[in-house]
Amino acid sequence: MPQTVKLNEFTFTRASAPWTTLPAQQQPHWHDHPDYDLIEAELSGALPLVAHSEIREAKRALGLAALGEARVLQLGDCAESFSDADPLTTSRKVRNVARIASRLADRTGQQVARFGRMAGQYAKPRSSNFETVGGIELPSFRGELVNSFEAELSARRHDPERMLQAYDASAAVIREVRAHWTGSAEELDGGPWVAHEALVLDYENALIRTDDRTGEQFLTSTHFPWIGERTRQLDHAHVSMFAAIANPIGVKVGPTADPETVVRLCQLLDPHHTPGRLTLIVRMGREDIHVALAPIVRAVRRAGHPVVWISDPMHGNTVKAECGQKTRFVTHIIEEATAFRHILETEGAHPAGLHLEVAASDVTECVGGTVPDESALSERYETLCDPRLNPDQALGVIDSVF
Ligand code: PEP
Ligand code: CO
Repeated sequence: MPQTVKLNEFTFTRASAPWTTLPAQQQPHWHDHPDYDLIEAELSGALPLVAHSEIREAKRALGLAALGEARVLQLGDCAESFSDADPLTTSRKVRNVARIASRLADRTGQQVARFGRMAGQYAKPRSSNFETVGGIELPSFRGELVNSFEAELSARRHDPERMLQAYDASAAVIREVRAHWTGSAEELDGGPWVAHEALVLDYENALIRTDDRTGEQFLTSTHFPWIGERTRQLDHAHVSMFAAIANPIGVKVGPTADPETVVRLCQLLDPHHTPGRLTLIVRMGREDIHVALAPIVRAVRRAGHPVVWISDPMHGNTVKAECGQKTRFVTHIIEEATAFRHILETEGAHPAGLHLEVAASDVTECVGGTVPDESALSERYETLCDPRLNPDQALGVIDSVF
């Protein structure tokens, strides 16, 4: 692997990045691929997918939410597909984000910073290395950045060529997202911006670029990356990489997180106490949130970190339906998000908004509203990973919580 890659006006030394030697969970096994080094070099020389100025705008919008002056909505697929990277599908997704965000704006009377889980949401952490599909045990699907959804042994091989496909698909999606930008950069209702879980370090590391004017490092694969619940270990690579980049960043906070750990994460990731720098995405489940959240909010506030608080009421409330499909009940989602709002308000903090998995079409993956019971799930169950709300269900969640 080349130690340094010459990029237009500067030289970026990937090998010197401290996180490349730290342990990391959930990474692909593909380093023995004959073209791995070439792929990595190509990605390291590729144009940034998003501009530094756009990242700064997104951070500014999140800064207002940190101060209680705006709301935040982040939504989209659990896992995107390369085959969805066309303009028509993308534009439906952007309009879906806009529609649900405008409902949140109406309900709260505040402006909403909007983010799509899109243009890079191609990698999935999995709790097991194997899954059984149609009676056959296969290596788990880890998102199209890593392997194929197809239920074939060969399709589940980890393939680093997919990093280039993910880059191209993300570029196509971002192009279409930008075509929808209408607000001036001065308005909060600029965007929507894009966000994804920055999981695969080979991909993300190769897309870090230094701003040669300020010396800041930006992760140019997205505006707003987040660290998932399974990769937020304090002394591991993801946290180290996120500490080094200047983007606004998110971290999922699950039911096992304790106040000391979350404060330590804040110290590492928001050392300068910057509003908009760090968003805590709370995903505890509708029962655990009652016990676990308040002490964390108190500890973070005592430590003086002006974080953005948002609720992901999806990932702590996944159940297996009788048919074997994963599903979620809209009532449970509303229950957790409502508890989130009340706990934050009781603690004197701002419940800025929601992080939701929502399809742009009328899918039947979660139970509630237009999907009366589990027997209706099979009608249009189309997700590549977790069950998403359909747009009507998502609007129902907004109306019930705010
Ligand atoms: C996700 O957002 O799809 C996800 C895997 O979330 P978490 O890291 O919270 O489990
Ligand atoms: Co998910």
